[in-house]
Amino acid sequence: MDDPVRLAIIGCGGMGRRHLAGLAELSRTSHMNCDLLAVCDPNQPNAEDLADEAHELLGHRPVVFQDAEQMVRELDALEAADCPTDTGSHHIAATQALELGLHVQCEKPLALTVRGARRIVEAAQRSGRILSVAENFRRDPMNRLVRALIDDQAIGQPQCMLDVEIGGRDSIIITPWRHMKLSGTITLDAGVHNADILQYYLGPAHSAFGQVRLFEKTRVRRGTDGPGGFYARWAASMPESIQATGEDAIFGQITFESGALGQWINHHAGHGESVHQRKVFGARGSINSPGDRNGRPVTLHLDDAGAIGDQRILEYAPSYRLEPVAAALFGAERPWRYNLEFAAIDRKLLALEYYELARCIRTGQQPEVTGAVALRDVALVYALFESDRAGRAVTLEEVQSGAVDAYQREIDAHLGLLEPIGANA
Ligand SMILES: NC(=O)c1ccc[n+]([C@@H]2O[C@H](COP(=O)([O-])OP(=O)(O)OC[C@H]3O[C@@H](n4cnc5c(N)ncnc54)[C@H](O)[C@@H]3O)[C@@H](O)[C@H]2O)c1
Repeated sequence: MDDPVRLAIIGCGGMGRRHLAGLAELSRTSHMNCDLLAVCDPNQPNAEDLADEAHELLGHRPVVFQDAEQMVRELDALEAADCPTDTGSHHIAATQALELGLHVQCEKPLALTVRGARRIVEAAQRSGRILSVAENFRRDPMNRLVRALIDDQAIGQPQCMLDVEIGGRDSIIITPWRHMKLSGTITLDAGVHNADILQYYLGPAHSAFGQVRLFEKTRVRRGTDGPGGFYARWAASMPESIQATGEDAIFGQITFESGALGQWINHHAGHGESVHQRKVFGARGSINSPGDRNGRPVTLHLDDAGAIGDQRILEYAPSYRLEPVAAALFGAERPWRYNLEFAAIDRKLLALEYYELARCIRTGQQPEVTGAVALRDVALVYALFESDRAGRAVTLEEVQSGAVDAYQREIDAHLGLLEPIGANA
């Protein structure tokens, strides 16, 4: 490992543990380009536990801090911070790390509101440091394949896309904070992934009409391990029930800049049959995407060739080729499916994020999901909320600029973010 990027993990909760597993996964390849020097969290037990786990997984124990400023003061060599703190603190943790001179990888959503996201983007611009946002779903090889099929015109000009997720009942999903308007509704927390995929497949959204609902006001504890079992250690502090304040279902009609249209449902209070559908329709056929982190095959349906759901699909995506580190992790340069358990898939995608961050720091290249890309993802989610408040379709520009912000103002006031956008510049 030549000149690895020296980094810290700031935020040692569930996702911090998953990130560490991603780093360990990268360390098992010949592409390891990071060195974990420190972990930092005001919750000391969380930080100490992560340091212990790092010792086991990486062979050395990072130094534990509770305060990022002290960490940077004491660790001269530190170059970068990975910030998987809870969403409501991204605008604090990521902005502070950038202002302390570190390159930053921030978990998605970039922030809890558009204003918060703008604050981080502006801090990155001022500091000249790399800001990469950890959007893992698009890095799934099956999403890379769908994007290549679209780019290579397999279905002709895209006309519309359907992205529908319905399920969740009245369960507490992963953590209580994901159900509160002031700390991060589940429709932002999970929905921002879909906002990213919608725009990854079809390009930037131009405008949207949305309706949002809070269906399940009381949510109950049901299963506490979270994705991949990473949250099991906090199970004892999970309440039996909570009163939710954040909307749990969003319904949107999107117009993309290309003229294509999108129908989007992200419904986390669905009962009965759960639905996961993602399809793109074009002038000559359609693509059925299997969704994220399951490795199931993509199916192409062509007017003149019928359904193609096996390796022949690769003939329609000549540009599809994983970068060497992804090919090493997923075992092929052009996989058309893969068979791995969830935790393994998860850590491989997170390994790719670390690898890219460190490569960009060393080369000066910009990452794939810059602050600007991630801001647009947050804006697409909030376009639905703001449209619901305004009773009309809104443009992404109105939402990104803060011209339309009636829904978010209460959150921004709570976070102390109500100075005009740009005032910090
Ligand atoms: N990409 C994905 O698939 C995925 C999955 C789960 C979570 N996430 C994202 O990861 C982030 C973290 O989620 P989580 O489930 O781990 O939350 P969590 O509540 O389990 O952990 C958050 C941790 O951050 C710490 N923290 C808060 N403010 C801090 C600060 N200023 N400095 C240092 N540490 C601080 C908390 O003490 C806690 O230990 C969220 O933004 C979430 O949306 C992404």
